Amino acid sequence: MRPDPSELSLDHPVCDLNPLRETHAEAAHWRRYGPLVPVTVMGGVRAWAAVSADAARTVLEAHPDLAKDPAHWGAYRRGEVPADWPLLSLIVADSMLNADGADHLRLRRLVTFAFTPKRVAALAPRVREITRALLDTLESGGTDTAVDLRSRFAHPLPLLVICELFGLSDLAQQGLLREHYETMLSVEASDDARRKAALGQREVLGRLVADHRNDPRDDVTGALIEALDEEGGRLSEKELIDTLEIILLAGHETTVNSLTSTVHALLSHPEQLALVRRGTIGWPAAVEAGLRWNAPLRSVYMRYAVRDTVLHGVTVRRGEPVLVALAAANRERPDEPAPERFDLLAPHGRQLAFGAGPHFCLGAALARLENAVALEELFARFPDLDLAEPESDLVPLVSPAINGLASLPVVLNGGAGAA
Ligand code: HEM
Repeated sequence: MRPDPSELSLDHPVCDLNPLRETHAEAAHWRRYGPLVPVTVMGGVRAWAAVSADAARTVLEAHPDLAKDPAHWGAYRRGEVPADWPLLSLIVADSMLNADGADHLRLRRLVTFAFTPKRVAALAPRVREITRALLDTLESGGTDTAVDLRSRFAHPLPLLVICELFGLSDLAQQGLLREHYETMLSVEASDDARRKAALGQREVLGRLVADHRNDPRDDVTGALIEALDEEGGRLSEKELIDTLEIILLAGHETTVNSLTSTVHALLSHPEQLALVRRGTIGWPAAVEAGLRWNAPLRSVYMRYAVRDTVLHGVTVRRGEPVLVALAAANRERPDEPAPERFDLLAPHGRQLAFGAGPHFCLGAALARLENAVALEELFARFPDLDLAEPESDLVPLVSPAINGLASLPVVLNGGAGAA
């Protein structure tokens, strides 16, 4: 039986967020306590978790009692959050993600120009070129044996696109950035390795800025440096690096997993794939269905109560943090009999994979474009693409923040009779 929400308190967490547990199984357990559940998130950090779609919206949309600025986080102010807590550096950085009101708008407006639907649509030919080049490389390795589509295709595509937008063309530096981000987000890496990776990626970004200063270029990094150098500076040096960090990280890690999850969904639901192949529905609809079925963000961290407030029957006290169990909330639909179904024909209009409210994903249009082009090109090039392993052998990622698969072994020419 569900407890009375007024009896729940962050002093007594009832569940823990365990990255080893499968995202949706964990959420089903949490839901038994109601839409907002007091949980611990690795290392003893406590937070309310919004696990229903309604509660997720309440938290994500501009709620007057919730803020993003970690200055409002009581435990952090009191020095109770371990300095090596895996997600800390990301959620206390001076980026738009952790800012409110005018400050948030100031930081977001500096880069909005690069991600408008019109600017993004203009990138389509280049995204297609990059996609085809990656597929050429994939094909040249042979089509009848198993390859990991995640590391060989889904991973490099968004990284190459976002690096190009920001003028990070040096392949060695791109590789370093990729390694650092993977370590920073890994729960299996040691604290020391994570700390070194965080410093390493800042070095790459610092070098990117220095290169742009020596050789000014007309790209997004160039525009940010211009804003920094303007008289009266709209941006501090630290904000510049933190802004580059959040966009480069958010701009690829999420897209890797949406693409991997959607290819997985289509291969394991051939009747849905057939709908696109027959032209009943387009690739953009497959992208939306994939995002809804397995949103790439397992959890979104954090909002903080600026005063005591009652949300969905629970009292969240001033200074307490609230996270959104996004992938779980995105599958919850009281009005649908089987919301966990991967269904291209279901309406996906109100899905939450890109968040909602003022922090709605800056790169949503770019992510949608990359996914749609990638799916279209991939299935056109390899019409017999198939899973190389039984579905039950696919291994989920171990992460408190990302939801997806650790790898996606496929056979490009699966029709030739490979495993
Ligand atoms: C499928 C891919 C993606 C998904 C599922 C996704 C998801 C999200 C979500 C849920 C948020 C809201 C976080 C919150 O409310 O705290 C967000 C914010 C953000 N995303 Fe994405 N994202 C994706 C791709 C991208 C790309 C390609 C970029 C690159 C430009 C990007 C840049 C950002 C930035 C900068 C923010 C912070 C916005 C703000 O605070 O105002 N994302 N994303």
